[in-house]
Amino acid sequence: MHRVSSIICAVVLVVAAASLKAYAFPMPQLGKQCMLNYCMGTFATFPPRGGRRVPSPTIQLRTNAQRLADGLGPKPPMRRTQQRRGTPVRRQAEVSATPITPSPFVTRCGIMTIMDGDGEPVGYIGRSSFDESGLLLINETLSDAATACFTAERGASIAQSVSLSFTDLTTEGPIDFPLLALIQGMNNTDSNLTPLSAQYLTFGGAVGPAAPPGSLPEYTNNTVSFATGVERTVLTSVWTINLNSGSLTAQWTNEDATQPPTHIFAVDGILHASADPVRFSINATVTIDPVTLLFIAF
Ligand SMILES: *[C@@H]1O[C@H](CO)[C@@H](O)[C@H](O)[C@H]1NC(C)=O
Ligand SMILES: *[C@@H]1O[C@H](CO)[C@@H](O)[C@H](O)[C@H]1NC(C)=O
Ligand SMILES: *[C@@H]1O[C@H](CO)[C@@H](O)[C@H](O)[C@H]1NC(C)=O
Ligand SMILES: *[C@@H]1O[C@H](CO)[C@@H](O)[C@H](O)[C@H]1NC(C)=O
Repeated sequence: MHRVSSIICAVVLVVAAASLKAYAFPMPQLGKQCMLNYCMGTFATFPPRGGRRVPSPTIQLRTNAQRLADGLGPKPPMRRTQQRRGTPVRRQAEVSATPITPSPFVTRCGIMTIMDGDGEPVGYIGRSSFDESGLLLINETLSDAATACFTAERGASIAQSVSLSFTDLTTEGPIDFPLLALIQGMNNTDSNLTPLSAQYLTFGGAVGPAAPPGSLPEYTNNTVSFATGVERTVLTSVWTINLNSGSLTAQWTNEDATQPPTHIFAVDGILHASADPVRFSINATVTIDPVTLLFIAF
């Protein structure tokens, strides 16, 4: 049983490594900052456009996904049962036991990388990436990348309209809002996005449980409302993850249940979405940076 799961694990890691290779990740600059005997892992900053830096082999990353994102191999597998010397004891009665039907669902966890319009990584969704308005910033520090988990059908290659649950947020405030959410824009007059409209969404955290896929936007406590005191509507079961490519996309639902195009972009490093980013950009007189998200599963 354990051998089977480590084989599955190894296969998953190889597949993840292969898909990472396909993205030809530039290596973040790595360094180690130590105080007394405590080293804070990596403090990576992405190279300026065009530049490429060489990774240091001495970094300590928390998870295999972070190691893969950094071009390293996975950590050696942990042995979960003690191997004893002497005669191996055969397990008994397993054949005659009631067969256990495996759950039709599996939970997958990973980190989220943000790629720019050229497909180059520019940062991560971090454990501490919320600003004072409860908005989600792109964080350049790989070792700060937040872990998020979702549940999908066993064997599925696409996880459709799932919610993503953070497991390790560190900032007081956002830690109470563990679901990655799309939140109604502060200037929106309603919860609808349409092409030719300047209305927009921001990324943030929301309280659980997640409303089911296709739910209409409704007020749920979230990082933006908590930070600003302004009630904003939220959707959480909006993420679709292609488990082969890692691509992570969003789908908003309007008040009349129509599903508008939901393009993701950044404004000064803050994640937004809209059905018409150009119209948003003109109305708000800001420059937008189109981005795509990549889910790197463990
Ligand atoms: C990125 O993460 C680091 C390490 O946790 C933190 O100090 C920094 O404030 C974060 N930056 C942003 C823009 O959130
Ligand atoms: C469009 O711009 C105007 C003027 O700045 C602003 O008042 C309005 O809230 C903006 N609309 C949206 C949807 O952001
Ligand atoms: C939102 O959540 C925060 C943090 O848990 C809580 O203090 C606050 O009372 C909540 N607000 C509402 C309107 O539920
Ligand atoms: C929101 O409205 C304010 C006030 O009109 C305006 O200054 C700001 O640029 C608007 N923001 C966006 C994103 O449209």
